[in-house]
Amino acid sequence: MIIKVAKSAGFCFGVERAVNGVIAWAKANKDKNVKVYGMLIHNSYVIERLKELNIKVIEDINEVGKDDIVFIRSHGVSTDEFSEIEKRASKVYDFTCPYVKKIHEIVREWSVNGNDVIVVGDINHPEVKGTIGHVEKGRKCIVIDSVEKAKDAITQLGSKAIVVCQTTFDNAKWQEIKDYIENNTDYRVFDTICKATINRQQEAKVLAHEVDVMLVIGDRKSSNTNKLYEAIKEIKPTYFIETLKDLEGIDFSKVRTIGITAGASTSQEQIDEVVHALERKFNEVDIYDFEKLLDKS
Ligand code: F3S
Repeated sequence: MIIKVAKSAGFCFGVERAVNGVIAWAKANKDKNVKVYGMLIHNSYVIERLKELNIKVIEDINEVGKDDIVFIRSHGVSTDEFSEIEKRASKVYDFTCPYVKKIHEIVREWSVNGNDVIVVGDINHPEVKGTIGHVEKGRKCIVIDSVEKAKDAITQLGSKAIVVCQTTFDNAKWQEIKDYIENNTDYRVFDTICKATINRQQEAKVLAHEVDVMLVIGDRKSSNTNKLYEAIKEIKPTYFIETLKDLEGIDFSKVRTIGITAGASTSQEQIDEVVHALERKFNEVDIYDFEKLLDKS
């Protein structure tokens, strides 16, 4: 059996930085009340590890107490939420991904200078909610996820507006919306989609063409893992692997090559666990790293 593991599989830079940062801090400060504001990562495996270290995930600002050390996750928060947490907690560590921070800075600077804002993304996603919270009060901000909604938004906004994109939005959809706005307005468009997401999806699609089946490792609650699964299941039979149990129902009898990828919220430990289970299952296994489209810049 040949197993090809996508080089871009697993934690992206921003998630790795936040998860490792919180865990390292909690290990070194066992006597402190450590809380993460919002689900750090959609991965029950990692959340269990946080619980073992007494790190509490909270969703409500009212749960922040004066002795708490609070960590902000990679998705970021609004300016109002940040100040409120700072007021209530003993200390705040901001692990907002630098790429998300860049969007906050763009939105802030341009809206202060009189521009309305279009955010291309999912209105319910925490990153998008945080971004909206950086728009200057009094300026309009509209969230859209289709060309149809872009048409509507343009009729509601003035001639001065900017456009940013949720870092993990679907790249093909973003290109369509971006082209429409650029062809029909003078709005300044900032391409803020994250390269890690694009690379992962492109690499997975190329890999899918080279193998008999694809395994996508991750938590079903993780939106980026689901998007990855959706993107490749059109190409090859694709299986969602949350736990090793999910391998049991797969018929590998005609399979000679397995491709593996994983969402941005899947840890290296989980990927290794699946690879080792496959090694145990098949007599002869060759394992390769697959990095054809990885952006080295
Ligand atoms: Fe940051 Fe991109 Fe990950 S924006 S959190 S490195 S998907």
